[in-house]
Amino acid sequence: MATRKVVKIGESSLRKKSKPVKDFDEDLWQLLDDMKETMHENDGMGLAAPQVGVLRRAVVVEVNNAFYELINPEIIKTKGEDIEKEGCLSVGGFRGRVKRPMTVTVKAYDRFGYPFTLTGEKWLARCICHEVDHLDGIIFVDKTLDKDEYLKNGGVL
Ligand code: NI
Repeated sequence: MATRKVVKIGESSLRKKSKPVKDFDEDLWQLLDDMKETMHENDGMGLAAPQVGVLRRAVVVEVNNAFYELINPEIIKTKGEDIEKEGCLSVGGFRGRVKRPMTVTVKAYDRFGYPFTLTGEKWLARCICHEVDHLDGIIFVDKTLDKDEYLKNGGVL
């Protein structure tokens, strides 16, 4: 395992739409292992492949000591609403409130290509939404209720 450099907001690759993972091979496993290590190194709750410069639909999340790898994730059901402050390893120190579903069900594949569904509540739901957004080039500062504050303090989109 190795840590990889985290791409920062303002770099164009972070705004691109990632492509589905097709090969569930050693390159993918290496990527996932590196993403986990990079997330831990930076005290993150999640990381998406485009944040380490790989435009493929793979994310890792870790909430309450439970670690998940989601390949080609697709949110199939949401319920309720929740507002909490979020941050992002690509955005530096800013944290802002974002409205997210309280419950999210996601369909995804594991690293071996087996499909599964996962239902998460509260922070897990939030984390899944945040990371899946990254795969479509969306960053939480686009959605934050505190966007004025972010921009006023020199934040870029
Ligand atoms: Ni993020």
